[in-house]
Formats: sequence, C-alpha cells, structure tokens
Amino acid sequence: MIRTQHLDATDPITRTEAIATAAQMLKEGKLVVIPTETVYGLAANGLDTQAVRGIFTAKSRPSDNPLILHIQSMAQLAPLVQDIPPIAHKLAEAFWPGPLTMVLPKSPLVPEVTSGGLDTVAVRIPDHKTAREVIAAAGVPLAAPSANLSGSPSPTNARRCAQDMDGRVDAILMDADCRVGLESTVVAVGDRGVTVLRPGWITPQQLTQVVGKGLVEVHSGVLSHLEEGERVASPGMKYRHYAPNAKVTLIDGDTEGYRRFLEQFVGLHGVFALCFEEDLPLSVPYFCYGGGEDFDEQARLLFEGLRHLDEQNATEIYAHSPKATGVGLAVYNRLIRAAGFREMKV
Ligand code: TXA
Ligand code: MG
Repeated sequence: MIRTQHLDATDPITRTEAIATAAQMLKEGKLVVIPTETVYGLAANGLDTQAVRGIFTAKSRPSDNPLILHIQSMAQLAPLVQDIPPIAHKLAEAFWPGPLTMVLPKSPLVPEVTSGGLDTVAVRIPDHKTAREVIAAAGVPLAAPSANLSGSPSPTNARRCAQDMDGRVDAILMDADCRVGLESTVVAVGDRGVTVLRPGWITPQQLTQVVGKGLVEVHSGVLSHLEEGERVASPGMKYRHYAPNAKVTLIDGDTEGYRRFLEQFVGLHGVFALCFEEDLPLSVPYFCYGGGEDFDEQARLLFEGLRHLDEQNATEIYAHSPKATGVGLAVYNRLIRAAGFREMKV
C-alpha cells in the first residue's frame, strides 16, 4: 500500500501548487492520476520504463495492452514517431487538442513497455487545461490509461478515481467531472486513410470530413465479438472491458417494448434499469443515462451510471440499447462490451 496524496485542482488557491506538486512527482517517476476531458488518466513518465511498469501493476493491466502518450504541443510529437504523414498533420490541425488518439510507427525513444511491444505508439493532446499544465510542467510525454482497475468502467470524476486508486498511486490530482465521459477515439493512421480502432466523441463522420470520403474505415472489432485467438489491430479490443459487477444485458426496442419487458421483474431484488429519460416511469429502480437522442449526455453519464448501479448492489442491469450512430457508436461500443455482447430484441 502506498499513501496516496489528494491534490486539489478545483480550488483556485491550491491549484497552482497542486499542479506543480503533481508534475514534480511525475518527474521523479511516480504515479499520479490526472484529469482529462475524456476520463481521468493514471499517468507516469511515458519514457521511463520503470515508471510505466508501475502503471500496469497499479491497474492490474495485461502487459500487452499498450498505453497512450499524452503531449501538450505538436513539437513533442516528432521525437516519438518515425515520421508524421500528411493525414496526421490534417487530423492534428482539426482535432488537437481534443479526444482523438493517433497510432503511428514509433521511434526508438518510446520504451517497449509503453507500446506493449508493438512497433507503433498511440499519442494525443488532451483538451484540458489542468492536464496540459501538468504535462508542460513535467516536461515529458505522460503515459496514461484510464484510471480504473483493469476491466472496470473508467472514472469520470475524482471520487471514482479515489475508490479505485487510493493506496495504489502516489497522488490524485482532483479536478471537476470529465466533460466527454468516454475515452478518446483511437485511429490507426496509414498513408491513404485511417482505421477507427475505438470509437469516441470524434465520430467517423467528422474524421471523413477531414481525411476524405472513403478513406475512413471502422474496424470490424468495434461492434463485434473477436474470435478466440483472432489477431487484433488494437489489443484493447480483446479484453473484457468497462464492466460493472452486475450482469448487464442490452435491450433493443422502443420505449413501449422496453417498459413491458421490465414488468416481469417488478419487486425483484437487485434488478435495475439503465434507461433513457423518455422511458420513465418504469416498474423497476433505474439510472437514467440521458435522452434517447442525446448521445453527448449518454457518453457523459454512462460510466458513472454503471458505477452507481454497482453501489446500489445491482445484480442484473437491463440497459436500453443506444442508437449506434454519431457519438452513439461510442456509447454502444462501451455498453455492448460491458454486457459481454449480450443483447436481446423486444
Ligand atoms: O481518453 C483516453 O484515451 C484516456 C485518457 C486518460 O486519455 N486514456 C485511455 O487509455 O483510454 P487506455 O489505456 O484505457 O486505452 C488505450 C487504448 C487501448 O484500447 C489500447 O489497446 C489502444 O488504445 N492502443 C494504445 N496503443 C496502441 C497501439 N500502438 N496500437 C493499437 N492500439 C493501441
Ligand atoms: Mg481503459
């Protein structure tokens, strides 16, 4: 057990010192949870093999699942990669700082542990004031996976970080709730186009506007179950993910059908709904994760909803399936994984 310091970045009086302390600890090879616009990240000096090993231990993360390097300027990108293809320049111009991660061939500067033994590296510039100030003050790229225990829903607020990471990291830089709520869009950048490896708040439609028609592909693993032993483009695709303790099942149907389906569980202990606002009233206890058409709100609330229902000792969660379009594709991608690909039509 490590003693975990809580550093307060929300109070204007303590903020500057909190950020300086976090940056100093990162320089010393320590582990610090930091806020970003997507989810909180468990950060360490991404060029320090020993420090990065600490991330894998703290999260109980499989060592072949590579990490994202967080930088705060374009100047920091060049030394990390073989070269920057024109498409990457265009994407950076359009979406950085922001929730887009680019996978590019890595330079020898990036340690094996960081890239999970791959010859590519994932990089992004977060659109978050505190995050960028910490990266700047630390002076190194920060490797940072989501700050949850491996397999659990990512933390979107400081309280959830403390629940998972107290005793496992040196400090938590506590800031406001995350604006996006789901992890960044991950794209593999090729010479001719990009492949979406993980959908996020930056949608395939938005990418197409920048890269060009027909040049954006969504990897088949985004919505489907990978076969045992199948070669994966992104190691993160193959692991059980985002899952609460409760068993989650997606229910695909209209409001009427969803309501009727839930009636069979009236009075049953441990059964909860993860629903849309327009589904109310329901015959079982629930958490509302936004309006059925409000994908931004669904993204913002999904992980907190799953964690909240765990706290209520839910054993079964019946989630109303989101529409898999726009940002909804990312919401659906996380939920179907949380459900272990269980979905029923009603
Ligand atoms: O929004 C985010 O991306 C958050 C915040 C903290 O920045 N970070 C995050 O990191 O979600 P993590 O480690 O939980 O997810 C990184 C994903 C994994 O699915 C991993 O497999 C994939 O990116 N990835 C990382 N490096 C890769 C590479 N070289 N090739 C393919 N996929 C890669
Ligand atoms: Mg994660």
